[in-house]
Parts: sequence; structure tokens; C-alpha cells
Amino acid sequence: MESYALPDISTPGGLEPIVLAQNEHAYPPSQKVQDAVKAALDRGQLYPDSEWVELRGAIAAVHNLNPDNIVCGSGSMELMSSLMLAFLSPHDRLLMTQYGYLFMRTLAKLVGVTLDVAAEPNYRVDIDVLLTELKPDTKLVFIVNPGNPCGSVIHNDEIRRLREALPDNLLLLVDEAYAEFVDDDFYQPIFDLAELGNTVITRTFSKIYGLAGLRVGWGYFPDQVRDQVRKVLNPSSVSSLSQVAATTAMQDQQTAVAASRQIAQQRDFLSNAISQLGLSVVPSQTNFILVDFITQQKAVSAFNYLREHRLVVRPMAGYGLPTCLRITIGTEEQMLLTAKTLTEWQGQSYE
Ligand SMILES: Cc1ncc(COP(=O)(O)O)c(C=O)c1O
Repeated sequence: MESYALPDISTPGGLEPIVLAQNEHAYPPSQKVQDAVKAALDRGQLYPDSEWVELRGAIAAVHNLNPDNIVCGSGSMELMSSLMLAFLSPHDRLLMTQYGYLFMRTLAKLVGVTLDVAAEPNYRVDIDVLLTELKPDTKLVFIVNPGNPCGSVIHNDEIRRLREALPDNLLLLVDEAYAEFVDDDFYQPIFDLAELGNTVITRTFSKIYGLAGLRVGWGYFPDQVRDQVRKVLNPSSVSSLSQVAATTAMQDQQTAVAASRQIAQQRDFLSNAISQLGLSVVPSQTNFILVDFITQQKAVSAFNYLREHRLVVRPMAGYGLPTCLRITIGTEEQMLLTAKTLTEWQGQSYE
């Protein structure tokens, strides 16, 4: 099988790269988080809490959830892996969408399931198209909302409609890694779907909470699904320092909300600047944008030009979008530099 392809984030001539390729947070963890982590080092000789009691309590309080149904993992990637390992075997089928998170394709190979992929017309998940791809052996349906790399949002009524249309014995996994960036009124939580017993919702501390390096994800699981997933999950995979960092970050919603607003402002700035260059930007509700350069040659040329100027963005050929680049929203300064560099690139590419 092919390995899950992480981006090459090096720059020519050993210049220090400005990495806008992995949808990481623009800013370091808050002082509160850093202080809490330093203090927790005092108990570094002990194994972490394998029940994540404080962390689950903090998540449950913010989202008004039952802590018993929260499962934590070393990033949401680990929760997805565990769910696949616990529930799928080689004769099953997994259904996902065209631009759905690529890691799922790696997991499908690992477990040996047959993968079905529904088209995403106009960079959007279309529930009716997805439903036409359903097969009798489909065991799991996987959707990402908002999507990566397109950044578009599926109306939550649509997800409820999907759930109603799916057989009860089919699992639905909704990856909401970027949910906290969405500010549309229609984007209401769907955690209650877990009560149906067949729907799992995952979230992460890697994006809005800026803790990608500490590896903490969480999910809302129905009782029986949680029990099976916990059998295959490494009980000590979330380190004590990571648990403290995530708990502190979750308890500080003010910082998260402020970060989301700031990212949205910077996203709008960059989207406008790029649109003014005549390039098309897919409307995004996340901390990244997808830019379509119309031809692969132009996308490669812009990628190389940005890279020569230390700006490392993400080529999208791996997603079947060879004419596009995905740019993570960084600091104000980084966005100004990105806009300026792309403007220069366009000027010189027309000379
Ligand atoms: C759609 C999506 N889901 C999940 C993840 C992984 O998140 P985590 O860091 O929690 O494993 C990412 C990371 O980029 C992502 O883009």
C-alpha cells in the first residue's frame, strides 16, 4: 500500500519555511496552557489517566454532553483508526466522498475494505449523490464537515436527512475537525445523533485549540460503539501533558472564540486578495482556503514561486485536484506576505 503522504515542508537553500501546508493553528498555545503543561511535568513519572476524567469533564461542560460517551485519543486520527479496526473487516465496504480526508483511504487499505467514493460536485458534499453510492455491504459512511480540502459546509439538516436515509445497522462517522471555525447559524451541533446508537462524531484539539503537536482528539460515541472502540484503543495514548493542555484550552473558550474570529478575518483578507488576481477561491468556513489556478502548470508554478519565498502551501494532486493549492490561514503578517508574493508571481508569470 502507499503510505499516507505528509507534505514536503522544506524550502530551497535551507531558508526557514513558513508552513501553510498542514492546517495548523496560526498561534502558539496560550500562556495559560503553557503554564498548566509546565506544572504538570511534576507528575511526569506517572502514567496518564486512561479514563481522561478531567478532559472529558471539560469537554462535556462546554458542549453540554454526557461525559460517559466521550472517548479521547492521540488525535482524531487514532479514533478513526480504532473505529475502523473495531468495526470493519475485509468483506465490508466503506463509503466516503471524493475529497474526504485522505487518511481514511489509508485506513481502508489497512483494514482491507472495499472503498466506494461519491463525487462532490462543485467541491461540495451532495447527500443525494452519496446515497446513490450506497451498497448492500456498506458498513460505514464517512463524511467530513466542514470538508478538507474544500472548506465547504454541509447543512446539518442534510446530515440528519442522510442519517434517516441510511439503514440503522450502518455506522455514520462525521469528522468535525474544523467545526469550531464555522459561524453560520445553520451549523448547529449534531451530537444528539449519537443517541441513535449508530453515529459517531469526532473533533480535535489540533485546529481551533492549536495543539496539533500534542495530539489530542475526541469523539462522541454511542455506548456500544464506545465499548468496542475502547477495546482496540491504546489506553495511554494521550499523554498527561497533552490531557492537561487540552483541558485548559477547552476551559478557555474565550481564547478559542477570539482565535476563530481572527482566523476568519485573515481568511477573508487572503480570499479577497487572491480573488482580485482573477483566481477562484472556494468559499471556506475553516482555517484554510482552496485556490483553483485553472491549469496544473499554473498551480505548480505558483507553488514553486511561493516556496522560493519560504511559503510552503499544499499541492492538491493527491486529492485529485491538480489545478489547486490549499493554503492554511496563518498570522496577519504571513497572509500579507502570501498575498504580496502571489501578486508578484502573477505579475512575473504574465511578463
Ligand atoms: C479533516 C481532518 N480530519 C482529521 C484530521 C486529523 O486531526 P488530528 O490531529 O486530530 O488527528 C485532520 C488533520 O489535518 C483533518 O484535516
